[in-house]
Amino acid sequence: MTDLNQLERDLLSQVDAAGDEAALESVRVSALGKKGSVSELLKTLGAMTPEERKERGPLINGLRDKVQGAIAAKKETLAEAALSARLSAERIDVTLPVQEAPESRGRIHPISQVIEELTAIFADMGFSVAEGPDIETDYLNFTALNFPVGHPAREMHDTFFLAPDEKGERKLLRTHTSPVQVRTMTSKAPPIRVIIPGRTYRHDSDQTHTPMFHQVEGLVIDKQANIAHLKWILEEFCKAFFEVDQVKMRFRPSFFPFTEPSAEVDIQCSRKGGEIRFGEGTDWLEILGCGMVHPNVLRNCGIDPDEYQGFAWGMGIDRIAMLKYGMPDLRPFFEADVRWLNHYGFRPLDIPSLVGGLTA
Ligand code: DAH
Repeated sequence: MTDLNQLERDLLSQVDAAGDEAALESVRVSALGKKGSVSELLKTLGAMTPEERKERGPLINGLRDKVQGAIAAKKETLAEAALSARLSAERIDVTLPVQEAPESRGRIHPISQVIEELTAIFADMGFSVAEGPDIETDYLNFTALNFPVGHPAREMHDTFFLAPDEKGERKLLRTHTSPVQVRTMTSKAPPIRVIIPGRTYRHDSDQTHTPMFHQVEGLVIDKQANIAHLKWILEEFCKAFFEVDQVKMRFRPSFFPFTEPSAEVDIQCSRKGGEIRFGEGTDWLEILGCGMVHPNVLRNCGIDPDEYQGFAWGMGIDRIAMLKYGMPDLRPFFEADVRWLNHYGFRPLDIPSLVGGLTA
């Protein structure tokens, strides 16, 4: 017959010696688990005579209670020790400055921000956004837009050409967003009302020109779309974009092969002490080219010029970004200098909208 006192001493000293929860758990299993030493003893009660059971029952049950109690107490001690070890190992100095989270440290590039701003403004006027590839065919960049082969206007675009492909076709980096007008008109039936923001390329570099720059094209084709609509749209855009109550605009006659008549648009501004302000003053600043879409372009896109007409414009995004946010030089836009971006960039969650405000 098992010596209950001896077993009790053994088990209690094992409980006492358990250094962590895992060790304590294996003591518990060895004593109180299905095949544990105490559980085995409890099973013997069934086969005993009533007298034996009367004598041994309370002893064995008492042993089980004691071991259970010792294990519970030890468990608590171990948990307390683990907590105080953690508390003394992990220290937080609450006086240290808080580290900014990545989403508040990152910055949105002014060009991306300005594209969001102008998209919000034109979307409010019912425009959708169209896109096209940076690598274009000569046909879409020039010919379809009514630039005759050999016409001097082609030379003015300082085009980057790619090496001829196997069919001898020389692709190019689009020099303006206008080819997407053709892509839109050939893939979509009028009425059309789109803006086309995107990258454009010309062989040119100085303080206000970079080989890669950005334009936003606008195109409206409908049965009665006319110059008055164009003027109203551009005026509303400038007021919303530059956040002024009124802005005077000047339409100067100009030439583009794909519009007739064509104009360049200046907006009124004042320049005092190196600062440009809009909606006041006596100076003028050119911001875009525009005109009525040339009947040849409509025809090239399979649209009947006797039924449909429309207008288009092309505006330099980098230019209006520089003007709005007072950035004097265009080149740092594309130098990826984090110090410049920290200064001129925008917070990621300051998403421009007409209701929330374009500029934070
Ligand atoms: N594509 C012209 C350029 O880059 C800008 C332009 C002028 C676009 C008149 C137009 C337009 O859509 O109608 O110089």
